[in-house]
Amino acid sequence: MASSLAFPCLQLNFQSPTNSASTRRFVLRPICASVSEKSSSSSSSSQSSVSAQPAADLPIKKIPGDYGLPFVGPIKDRQDYFYNQGREEFFKSRIQKYQSTVFRVNMPPGPLITNKSQVVALLDGKSFQVLFDVSKVEKKDVFTGTYMPSLDLTGGYRILSYLDPSEPKHDKLKRVMFFLLKSGIKSVIPEFHSSYSQFFETLESKLADKGKANFNEANDQAAFNFLARALYGANPADTQLGTDGPKLVQKWVLFQLSPILLLGLPKFIEDPLFHSFRLPPFLVKKDYQRLYDFFYHSSAHVLDEAERLGVSRDEACHNLLFATCFNSFGGMKLFFPNMIKWLGRAGAKLHNQLAQEIRSAVRTNGGNITMSALEQMPLMKSVVYEAFRIDPPVPLQTPKIFEKAAEFVPDRFVGEQGEKLLQHVLWSNGPETENPTVGNKQCAGKDFVMLASRLLVVEFFLRYDSFEIEVATSPLGPAITMTSLKRASF
Ligand code: HEM
Repeated sequence: MASSLAFPCLQLNFQSPTNSASTRRFVLRPICASVSEKSSSSSSSSQSSVSAQPAADLPIKKIPGDYGLPFVGPIKDRQDYFYNQGREEFFKSRIQKYQSTVFRVNMPPGPLITNKSQVVALLDGKSFQVLFDVSKVEKKDVFTGTYMPSLDLTGGYRILSYLDPSEPKHDKLKRVMFFLLKSGIKSVIPEFHSSYSQFFETLESKLADKGKANFNEANDQAAFNFLARALYGANPADTQLGTDGPKLVQKWVLFQLSPILLLGLPKFIEDPLFHSFRLPPFLVKKDYQRLYDFFYHSSAHVLDEAERLGVSRDEACHNLLFATCFNSFGGMKLFFPNMIKWLGRAGAKLHNQLAQEIRSAVRTNGGNITMSALEQMPLMKSVVYEAFRIDPPVPLQTPKIFEKAAEFVPDRFVGEQGEKLLQHVLWSNGPETENPTVGNKQCAGKDFVMLASRLLVVEFFLRYDSFEIEVATSPLGPAITMTSLKRASF
């Protein structure tokens, strides 16, 4: 969804801390940013933690940066972010200018959508972790960053992702999510197999027909079907939804994220229209209702549980829709093409190593993909972690933590030393070594996503020896075209 910001985790880069009067947002207690000359060790096993109290031997510095004049400053930063510099350069040039990875800046969209643009960017692995401490950072209404989409897009409710753990509803709704995921867990492996077998067949027939195949389009359909079948036991094709699910979701998500997306339209149309005004929710109401009806009719067992926990069926259903379509589908829609991009670029040698490892583990498990078979695939697990590391919500992580940080290193997380690095893999809004709870804001679907991502690699290399791709960019992340798929020869 975002070449500019990666949903579903956009807000992570841009929390606004501090007790500054002009910075009105989010933080309960002040964070003192201190800039150390000492580098953190590259593979340190000590916990990276950020304390509200600075270490006694470090100098306290004022957070650098400048918000500029009201109204003008936020628009200037927005222009730099989207058009004059682009996201990478926007942050890099300011890191250079301020000689600090922590600085004040305005984040899009700004006026006329919101007057709360002022944030403190935390762009290194250490300061960033303060955002996981719910005692220091309030996460109320910050899921999409500095603005909040209209509640008309979510049935009038503030959805779980927008709730701070201090709000009683957060606890209840997160329990509903855990219940949903638990009740679907047994179906994940078989439903992934069935949805993604269909996906491979589509790719193969397109390749045979036209010599190339659009990965993203087929992945959208497979991901939506997989989620509906695994989590709700419902096959969209057998309902009024048919194959429209992905298209409806995409439009609905666009209505929520248009203020912070680079859609690729001419700047003089895109900026005044999409970054300065919200798209009117009534234009997507009918589409949303179709999705709602599908989820309402497929989720009786989860809605029963929600009622038992004191959440109305209606509110629970809007939350299920959001978790499935925005968090989960949105995540898979972005992450799977990303992972295939890195694997594709890594080339045939890695493909062969993965195929050997995966097929041998499946063979020793009686020819079945099981949880224990997955555990016997260290290289497969590592490439998935590596893909999550290299395209995470923190695009500018310091190389002080990871050696060769800009490179895709397939076996980075293999072995004891490799596993120690997992504490620095943060895609889920928390360390990979920690778990989502009702008291934190870590992704409820962390294990589910990891399992699904592993299954994609496993299914891929059970079926194919190797593959080739072309990569282009789109407003929705990498656009992958498959140019060859080499069927398994051993
Ligand atoms: C590749 C896929 C996914 C990615 C990258 C991802 C990422 C994230 C991130 C970064 C957050 C933190 C948001 C915040 O700070 O408030 C989050 C929250 C959340 N995610 Fe995921 N997610 C993915 C898939 C899923 C799936 C499959 C589910 C299934 C239910 C899910 C459910 C949630 C929920 C309910 C929250 C809100 C948690 C809370 O408020 O405590 N996500 N996700």
